[in-house]
Formats: sequence, C-alpha cells, structure tokens
Amino acid sequence: MRVSPDLMSDVAEVLLSEEQIAAKVAEMGARISADYEGRELTLVSVLKGSLPFMADLMRRITLPLRIDLMEVSSYGGATTESSGLVRILKDLSAPIEGRDVLLVEDIIDTGLTLNYLMRYLRGKNPHSIKICTLLDKPARRLVEIPLDYVGFEIPDAFVVGYGLDFGEVYRNLRFVGVLRPEAYES
Ligand code: PRP
Repeated sequence: MRVSPDLMSDVAEVLLSEEQIAAKVAEMGARISADYEGRELTLVSVLKGSLPFMADLMRRITLPLRIDLMEVSSYGGATTESSGLVRILKDLSAPIEGRDVLLVEDIIDTGLTLNYLMRYLRGKNPHSIKICTLLDKPARRLVEIPLDYVGFEIPDAFVVGYGLDFGEVYRNLRFVGVLRPEAYES
C-alpha cells in the first residue's frame, strides 16, 4: 500500500465537508436529546472508525449519558470488502441490562457487523437499543436492519476520513472524501 505524504493528494473528491458533517451531527444530537428526554442514555461506540463521530455527537446530546466502547473487526486489513467475519476485540466494560442503549457507528455497509452486534447486545437485556450511524451505504447491504438515526446516505464509493480508514490510514481527515483508485489499487 502506498500513501502519499500529502493525504489530500490521494483524495479524488470531498463528499462531505467538515461544515456539512458538523451541522448534521448537531441536528442528530438535538433529535436524540428530544427523543430520549427525561431518560438516561448509554452510547456504545464501535471503534475505531466511529471515534470522531462519537466524540462530536456526545457533546451535542444534552441528556445525562454514559459511554462505552467496543472494538470489532470485520474487514481483513487493507481490503475494501467485508469478510463477513466479526470478531470482538474489545468488549463492553459495564453491564447494559435495563439501560437505554444507542449504538453509534460511522458507516453501515453490508450490515454484517451491525447484525452481529445487535444480536450480541440484545442478549445483554438492555431496556431498549437503537442504532445511530453517520453514514449509510445501502447499495452494498446484505442484511436488512432498520436504522433509527442516519446522517447521510452515500453512494457506493470507497470513502475515507472523519474516522474512516483505508489500511488504517486517512482517519484524521476532517472531511469524508472519496479515495482515488490509484491509492487502493497500488
Ligand atoms: C467499519 C464500520 C463498521 C463496519 C461496517 O468498521 O465501522 O463497524 O465496518 O461494515 P459492514 O456493514 O459491511 O459490516 P471496520 O471493520 O472497517 O473497522 P474500523 O472501524 O476499525 O475501521
């Protein structure tokens, strides 16, 4: 894998600007705050891709909340395809039994990761569990799962930035961009 020293030169186009993302995250936070008014939330984020979204979203929610972090692996290293295999690399650190849980994801692609995680988390008897994702790529869906909060529906392009990686790189871009084919074909 070849990464340019200038990350921007590997980006074909900016799909979602920093400003568009910030406005959407604020809107989603306000909606979640209204929907769960009077309740306490547990946000469960799935590392590593959802780290920037989680950090921004939690500060736009005005309710008392707790956070927990899981890490799972679904993509095999520097490939662009989901393997369908989900491994838990880091589990929840506190019980969620009886709690209102919101699962925070950066992107739903095939839906395989989410499908696995929802079954796993439901088994821990939360009071409720809903899904919040910044990006939805419906063209690649293999498992249908109803999504409760969606930031942006995006086309079937290889996107990086705002947490999303290719080969663990590009997560620190402040926008979501489409990667140039030369960057992942080399
Ligand atoms: C991404 C994303 C989701 C999953 C979605 O994570 O954060 O968890 O893939 O893909 P799916 O709908 O096809 O299952 P990834 O495994 O790339 O790990 P990362 O968050 O550490 O980059």
